[in-house]
Amino acid sequence: MFTTINSIFKIGLMMLLFLSVTFSAFGKLVSHGDYDKIDKDFIGIGPGNNTLPFIIALVVFLLVTFMGRRKKCKMSKVMKLVALLAVLYMGKIAYVEARALGRQQGYAPVQPIWFSHKVHAGQNGIDCEYCHVDARTSRHAGVPSLNVCMNCHSQVHKGSVSGKKEIAKIYDYLGYNPETMQYDKPSKPIQWVKVHNLPDHVYFNHAQHVQAGKVECQECHGPVEKMNRVVEYKELAMGDFCLDCHRKRGIDTSNPYYKHYKFKEMKEKQGIDKITVDKIGGADCSSCHY
Ligand code: HEC
Ligand code: HEC
Ligand code: HEC
Ligand code: HEC
Ligand code: HEC
Repeated sequence: MFTTINSIFKIGLMMLLFLSVTFSAFGKLVSHGDYDKIDKDFIGIGPGNNTLPFIIALVVFLLVTFMGRRKKCKMSKVMKLVALLAVLYMGKIAYVEARALGRQQGYAPVQPIWFSHKVHAGQNGIDCEYCHVDARTSRHAGVPSLNVCMNCHSQVHKGSVSGKKEIAKIYDYLGYNPETMQYDKPSKPIQWVKVHNLPDHVYFNHAQHVQAGKVECQECHGPVEKMNRVVEYKELAMGDFCLDCHRKRGIDTSNPYYKHYKFKEMKEKQGIDKITVDKIGGADCSSCHY
């Protein structure tokens, strides 16, 4: 009896270990240097790196089971409990990692330039929409071109954290020569690494949320103005994120776009005091899925 259970455990463990190692391979990050560590406040968002805890639980489990067998006596209750806890813990890690598959909460890739939102949107109070100009009017918020940076960085050559090193990269990409103040060098395109990525089968529109819905950037992206390196703050999940808000959040019924809706009758009929997003189709599969 014990041996069959044990071999099931073993097979299960091998599978769990395999999963754990695979996931951890994606977690490796390179760095620009000391100032590019992920801010302390944002460590631990997302599933994190579960490799070490997993291995520890595995070692505990193996030790307990093998010790129990070698003495040729039954495992004591305590040891059984310890083994069980180790398995449950590994199961929990596997669950957390499997849930996070295809989602990227906690993802904070290193960018080609150490662009800090904390320095710009935080300390210097620059408005989000100064750079993300399209957020109010189109589907994508968009990332500014380096020419927008030059509005200030044709003057500001030095930062207090990174010195001249990172700002010089802007000039490099643009082919700008700060000595002659001319664009007299060859330029090359910059490739920012995209942080937020919904699957292709989902439709999301910024204007609908920022302009019509009056949802703050931070509700979805977290306190970006405190981040030196952008991290995906929330798990962009269908249920807990999108639908949860759509079921609770009221819409602006005075929006002329909704003039054909009979909101007053809807409220009376359904006995509700506000029209939430799901009442106008925000929970229909087809509004978010192609
Ligand atoms: C001075 C220009 C500037 C300002 C101001 C600014 N951003 Fe950004 N933002 C950028 C650049 C450049 C990137 C791309 C590099 C990066 O991800 O750090 C970016 C990236 C982002 C991303 C990640 C995009 C992705 O790849 O998924 C989010 C989210 C974001 N900004 C939100 C905000 C919010 C919210 C504010 C206001 C609190 C703000 N930004 C203010 C320039 C700016
Ligand atoms: C209702 C939630 C929500 C709000 C509010 C919101 N965003 Fe986003 N944002 C997202 C999602 C989801 C994505 C990923 C979109 C995708 O992958 O198609 C995203 C992507 C981005 C990106 C990456 C480039 C792009 O356009 O896809 C930037 C930059 C960004 N947001 C900035 C902002 C800024 C600035 C604001 C406020 C003016 C804002 N967002 C408000 C949910 C939101
Ligand atoms: C509205 C003005 C403004 C814009 C636009 C702007 N910056 Fe800055 N940036 C500043 C100021 C001011 C500082 C200096 C902050 C300090 O003293 O460290 C700075 C500092 C920096 C630094 C050095 C940070 C440090 O503390 O070491 C980098 C790198 C940088 N900016 C990159 C960019 C990039 C890339 C863009 C375009 C996406 C951009 N900036 C757009 C005003 C701006
Ligand atoms: C914090 C709240 C919030 C979150 C989170 C949110 N939304 Fe919304 N959403 C709204 C509001 C408010 C509206 C209504 C805007 C209006 O008045 O037109 C809306 C409207 C929509 C609509 C149009 C619905 C219709 O039929 O008119 C779509 C599509 C949509 N959201 C997709 C998404 C997706 C996809 C996500 C998750 C990635 C998401 N939303 C997350 C608040 C939110
Ligand atoms: C408010 C927007 C929204 C609505 C409404 C919506 N979805 Fe989704 N759906 C998403 C987002 C965002 C994702 C991707 C994120 C994730 O994995 O949860 C997703 C993912 C999925 C997936 C992929 C599996 C998964 O969980 O990753 C399936 C299947 C799915 N949706 C089916 C449906 C069906 C069926 C409906 C109608 C009952 C529906 N969706 C309504 C936003 C929505």
